[in-house]
Amino acid sequence: MNALSIEHVSKAYSLDGVARPVLKDINFTVRRNEIVAMVGASGCGKSTLLRLIVGLDNDFRGSIVCDTQAASRTKVGMVFQDHRLFPWLTVEGNVALAFDNSDLTARQRQEKAKHYIELVGLAEFSKAYPRQLSGGMAQRAAIARALAQEPDTLLMDEPFGALDSILRMRLQDELLSIWERNQVSIIIVTHDVEEALYLADHVIVMEPNPGRIRETIDVALPRPRDRNGVLLANLKKHCLSILM
Ligand SMILES: Nc1ncnc2c1ncn2[C@@H]1O[C@H](COP(=O)(O)OP(=O)(O)OP(=O)(O)O)[C@@H](O)[C@H]1O
Ligand SMILES: [Mg+2]
Repeated sequence: MNALSIEHVSKAYSLDGVARPVLKDINFTVRRNEIVAMVGASGCGKSTLLRLIVGLDNDFRGSIVCDTQAASRTKVGMVFQDHRLFPWLTVEGNVALAFDNSDLTARQRQEKAKHYIELVGLAEFSKAYPRQLSGGMAQRAAIARALAQEPDTLLMDEPFGALDSILRMRLQDELLSIWERNQVSIIIVTHDVEEALYLADHVIVMEPNPGRIRETIDVALPRPRDRNGVLLANLKKHCLSILM
C-alpha cells in the first residue's frame, strides 16, 4: 500500500523572467510505514520537493498523491531544518497548535499534547519556552508537534543537521523508536549519507541541474543496524561514488 505516489513531477522557478528547471521528471513511491531518505548536492531540489509534497507550493507539473489511513488523520506533516517553534508559546503550547482545527476539548488537547511530548522525552520541559531549550530539545519539540498532527507521512528536512554527532545519533535512534510505535511513513532529507543508510529502507540519490533522481539504493538490512558494520560501509562507498 502506498502512502505517497510521485509521478512525473517537474518544477521550474522563474529567475529574472527566465524559467529555470529545478526538478525534472521525479518518480517514486513511499509504501506505508516505510522510511525513505533523500540525499544529493546542495541546490538539487530536495527542499523544493518536500514543499510540493506538503502542499506549500502547488505550481508544478505531474502528480503527487498522498493516501491516508483514516479521514481523521492528517496526510502530511513536516519538520523543518530550523525548528520553527513559536517563541511566545511553551513546548506544550507549540505542540497543542497541532489541534487548532480539531473539535477536541481543552482537556483532550492537553492530554494529547502530553502524550506526544512524553514520546520525544520532553515531559519535564512541557512548560519551558523555546529559548530555554537546547537545540536538540527544540528539534524534539518540533518533531512532537509534527507527530501530534498524526500524519500518515512525516517529511523531515535535515532535521538533525545543526546538531553535534552524538546528539544526532541519539535522535536518530529516538526517531526509529517513535517510528516503530507510530504508524507513519517518513521522508527524511539529509546531507549525511551514514544517517540516510542507518535510517532508511530506500535512499534516493539526487543530482542537480535540474534536480533528478540518479539512483535509488535499497537498504535491505534489519534494524537495529550496526553503524560500523561492513554492509553499511559498502553501501556508503557506493552512495558516495554516485554523489562525487
Ligand atoms: N523561491 C525560489 N525562487 C527561485 N528559485 C528558488 C526558490 N527556492 C529555491 N530555488 C532554487 O531551486 C533550487 C533548489 O533549491 P532547494 O532549496 O530545493 O535545494 P536543496 O536540494 O534543498 O538544497 P540544500 O541541500 O542546500 O538545502 C536552487 O537552485 C534554488 O536556487
Ligand atoms: Mg534544502
